[in-house]
Amino acid sequence: MSEGSRIPGFYKLGLAERRAVISRRAHVELAELEHALEAGGLDTATADKVVENVLGIYGLPFGVALNVRINGVDRLVPMVVEEPSVIAAASNAARMIRQSGGFRAEVVESLMIGQVQITDVEHPSEAVARLEAAGPRLLALATKAVPNLIARGGGPRAIDVRDLGQRCIVLHVLVDCRDAMGANLVNTIAEALGPITAEIAGGKLGLRILSNLCDRRRVHATCRVHARELVSTPRSAKPSEPASASELASTGELDGLEVVDAIVSASRFAELDPYRAATHNKGIMNGIDAVVLATGNDFRAVEAGAHAYAARSGRYAPLAVWRRDGEDLVGELELPLSLGIVGGTLRVHPTARLALKILNVASADELAMTAASVGLASNLSALRALATEGIQRGHMSLHARSVASAAGALGDEVELIAARIAGEGLITVEAAQRALAEIRQAAR
Ligand code: MEV
Repeated sequence: MSEGSRIPGFYKLGLAERRAVISRRAHVELAELEHALEAGGLDTATADKVVENVLGIYGLPFGVALNVRINGVDRLVPMVVEEPSVIAAASNAARMIRQSGGFRAEVVESLMIGQVQITDVEHPSEAVARLEAAGPRLLALATKAVPNLIARGGGPRAIDVRDLGQRCIVLHVLVDCRDAMGANLVNTIAEALGPITAEIAGGKLGLRILSNLCDRRRVHATCRVHARELVSTPRSAKPSEPASASELASTGELDGLEVVDAIVSASRFAELDPYRAATHNKGIMNGIDAVVLATGNDFRAVEAGAHAYAARSGRYAPLAVWRRDGEDLVGELELPLSLGIVGGTLRVHPTARLALKILNVASADELAMTAASVGLASNLSALRALATEGIQRGHMSLHARSVASAAGALGDEVELIAARIAGEGLITVEAAQRALAEIRQAAR
């Protein structure tokens, strides 16, 4: 098994060492990596050309999730997120999951949807039949609108027409956008088809725009974790020893199978209650959005699609569910994901390009499978914490680390100070500075 994404002790390294390790593992020149990360990606002159009324640049932390293995391939996964513990949580869950072989993922179809709305249709059912019959002609017209996409092997694939009632019909054009997210391509096609669609339907032309409920571009990810992985120190490995302090702390004295059952119960809660499902899905999107942002993709589109898909039955539901299979916990996630590895932000953003290099994905589908897998890992980590000790303890210890750094702790001092202020229950910069002065004094 390749160990490419497994780097024990990575978080303990200094920033420069971490960059050097990732540069070697990802085969990216250190200078390129440093340039893209030091400058925060965009310069103000470029930003000024990207959006309007620019005043400057807004930075966010760029980290990397470890231990991720998808369909037998190890991947270092860049994540951009402001919330502490998201990257650590995804890495921890991915480490448990890789013990059973890692994630399995696939893209179910890969078609974007363009919509053409026609209103004031005199005889909707006849208009639908006429448009269906005109399908080949409409596809030919759509093909002409995107020659570059055709050259890359993509293009419009099918036409679908629905009567929405109230004399309104909608034509869907399904487009294979290859490695692009596809918004511009699909909108171009929808606009090209608009006038002829209205003419054939005998109605008035309405909107021509992609649908962010891209349920024909879905990704499916699954994983399996043995119960023993869900306790910090596998008890079965050391049967003669009592549970360690960290084991008790992280699982609240539950054994592995009890943790499995508690996670399944947490999943059922989300399946029964939309209020819980929203938070459950937020935990999934913690991982997915961070990958989407790192790779310069449109997180608003991804969010819109995910939640519309979660509500597709008419009742908002969890995007991932967890079940027990013998001594294993099995997780399954499906959601629409329209991501690109060409065009868009990638043209101007060196950090997004760097993220793709580190990821080493060869297609938009591979990126979607990676983002979904990280979403499943984030969900597992959140449910494991919630179903056992609760989320706050882990959050507090990470918060303590960042407070220790803010107080000036360096290298190994960070862990020492963080443990001390967290243990004392006083996580402030002042407390960390006092503790730091004391340990430095003692070390003299
Ligand atoms: C916090 O960012 C995400 C969680 O609320 C997710 C969940 O409750 O499953 C912990």
